[in-house]
Amino acid sequence: MGSSYKDDFDRSLTDPEGFWSEAAQEIVWIKTWNQVIDKSNPPFYRWFPGGVLNTCYNAVDLHVETGRADQAALIYDSPVTNTVKTYTYLELRDEIATFAGALASRGVSKGERVIIYMPMIPEAVIAMLACARLGAVHSVVFGGFAANELAVRIDDSEPRVIVSASCGIEVNRVVPYKPLLDGAIELARHKPEACIILQRPIEKCALIPGQDIDWEEAVDTAEPHDCVPVDATDPLYILYTSGTTGQPKGVVRDNGGHAVALKWSMKNIYNVEPGEVYWAASDVGWVVGHSYIVYAPLFNGNTTILFEGKPIGTPDAGAFWRVISQHQVGVMFTAPTAFRAIKKEDPGGALIKDYDLSCFKTLFLAGERLDPDTLQWAEKKLGIPVIDHWWQTETGWPICANCLGIEQLPIKEGSPTKAVPSMDVRVVNDSGQEVKRGDIGALVIKLPLPPGTFLTLWNADDRFIESYFSEFPGYYKTADAGLIDEEGYVFVMSRTDDIINVAGHRLSTGAIEEVLAAHPDVAECAAIGVADQLKGQLPLGFLVLSAGVDRGHAEIVKEVVQMVRERIGPVAAFKTATIVQRLPKTRSGKILRGTMQKIADGEEYKVPATIDDPAILTEITSALGEIGYPT
Ligand code: COA
Ligand code: AMP
Repeated sequence: MGSSYKDDFDRSLTDPEGFWSEAAQEIVWIKTWNQVIDKSNPPFYRWFPGGVLNTCYNAVDLHVETGRADQAALIYDSPVTNTVKTYTYLELRDEIATFAGALASRGVSKGERVIIYMPMIPEAVIAMLACARLGAVHSVVFGGFAANELAVRIDDSEPRVIVSASCGIEVNRVVPYKPLLDGAIELARHKPEACIILQRPIEKCALIPGQDIDWEEAVDTAEPHDCVPVDATDPLYILYTSGTTGQPKGVVRDNGGHAVALKWSMKNIYNVEPGEVYWAASDVGWVVGHSYIVYAPLFNGNTTILFEGKPIGTPDAGAFWRVISQHQVGVMFTAPTAFRAIKKEDPGGALIKDYDLSCFKTLFLAGERLDPDTLQWAEKKLGIPVIDHWWQTETGWPICANCLGIEQLPIKEGSPTKAVPSMDVRVVNDSGQEVKRGDIGALVIKLPLPPGTFLTLWNADDRFIESYFSEFPGYYKTADAGLIDEEGYVFVMSRTDDIINVAGHRLSTGAIEEVLAAHPDVAECAAIGVADQLKGQLPLGFLVLSAGVDRGHAEIVKEVVQMVRERIGPVAAFKTATIVQRLPKTRSGKILRGTMQKIADGEEYKVPATIDDPAILTEITSALGEIGYPT
């Protein structure tokens, strides 16, 4: 590979086959691919067709066989249960092989789906890798989603088995998972054949005979299972993410391209050597958790940390520093919101001084816009490079980053630096024409996308094409707007769709609106994301009541807040709604959510030329004023 960012980037575009076939040498293949990329059916590009491998082998068994058997593979650090438990590569391999045997004995085989609905415990990682070992397709569902969201995912992915736990633990409460799981199975049309439930000592649950199996019993009787060869192009996992409606999008990842790209990223982007300790403080339910808690660090022979805690409250704003120093973390990755939370509690960074952080080399942040205040605070208090990087569930790894393992470029505030090799990022206008450097437009990536990005949407090839490839032919639409400056630095400004980003979590305002609209007193509604100092954005609802409804407004708001919590989950952080007489719309009836957002955020706005009745904006301004917006 080249020696500078520019060399590598240029080569990745002029000779993608050469570039990625070299990177693929880092993965152990059972059979080498016939072709580096198959472009015969765009946008369904396929990387390494003909290649055969096993993802779990590359993540775990390989290291056992090549001298890392006794190295820590996974450190589970759980301040909420006062536990620190280390798994060597050998121990992890054995646990995975046994659990794979348990799954196999329940009929899970190559191509079958398994839903994993678990908190941040080692068994979640073991279950993911056990699926990979069998060539089964896992779909991890984040614990903060409600039963209804889980039911939608059960119906779409049709799992043979669901793996879950008796409970999760939040800062101030135990979250029983079993009622949510049972509720979801009740709601879903598809019924799994079995549920394997890990009983956590802090709160056990009753098991349903004939449906539920205790994790311990399942593994006690299981025979270890070997790695099953799978095609490079076979699916490894489905990860559901918010779309513009209540129906989430099932992002499908392959085995071969995923292994190659993630392994490449560890050295070239994160500059991490095998053997080092790497920590992504996220959740296995999100893409960051899939890629950078589980797969990439293990492919790279690192020690990965699984942290069941929060940046604050477990027990204090020094939790991150404690973990870094206790486990000798070299590189950490989290979302800016975690740092905003720490900064709010400990603005002077007093707790940092309690720990020896000399091991800490680099902090990577992603998942939402990195505001300059947070960047400067982290740089100043930690005295190490703080790297913003931009990516999405769909891409699975960074689109833009400062690729430290290739060449460290100067940091520009507000920019996740430049496109990583093989991500040919462009900015286009509404008609798909590239705009001048510095001009804002839609951020798109010229096809083909690199390996490790999504293959399709599960059960929804048409939606895949329509959502991402039809508006700008020849490009992948990121649905982010932004610009590229004269020096090639990319600036990501905002989403172009109705997705909002709450504490680094991606949420659909469309899904929230579907819940609000289901309230019997609501005739019409809208949901927007308003700026929030801690979480980046928070959802806010506008409700127009049906004629004749004369109940107390506060009561109705309370009910819709509860409905969103019950149907989407606490993670939606939906706490506020306001009742208005009407919603601002264009003459063709489109709700002007962007204008409402600007009013709520106290930003300047132009009255849209297409607005039906400008007077409504005054009503919206005063309704927002009554609930304290702009803040
Ligand atoms: N299971 C059950 N409930 C969960 C949950 C889970 N896995 N994760 C979050 N929740 C709940 C929270 O308890 C909270 O409930 P509440 O309304 O009763 O207080 C609600 O969902 C909202 O959670 P969150 O937005 O995370 O807010 P918080 O106040 O609990 O924590 C931060 C705020 C900033 C500390 C937290 O968001 C954080 O650590 N963010 C880091 C970013 C991150 O991990 N991003 C992932 C992508 S990199
Ligand atoms: P998710 O799919 O949950 O990872 O969310 C992806 C979205 O988060 C992107 O489309 C962006 O809107 C936003 N995002 C992620 N990283 C960044 C970043 N570094 N800067 C700005 N926005 C980001």
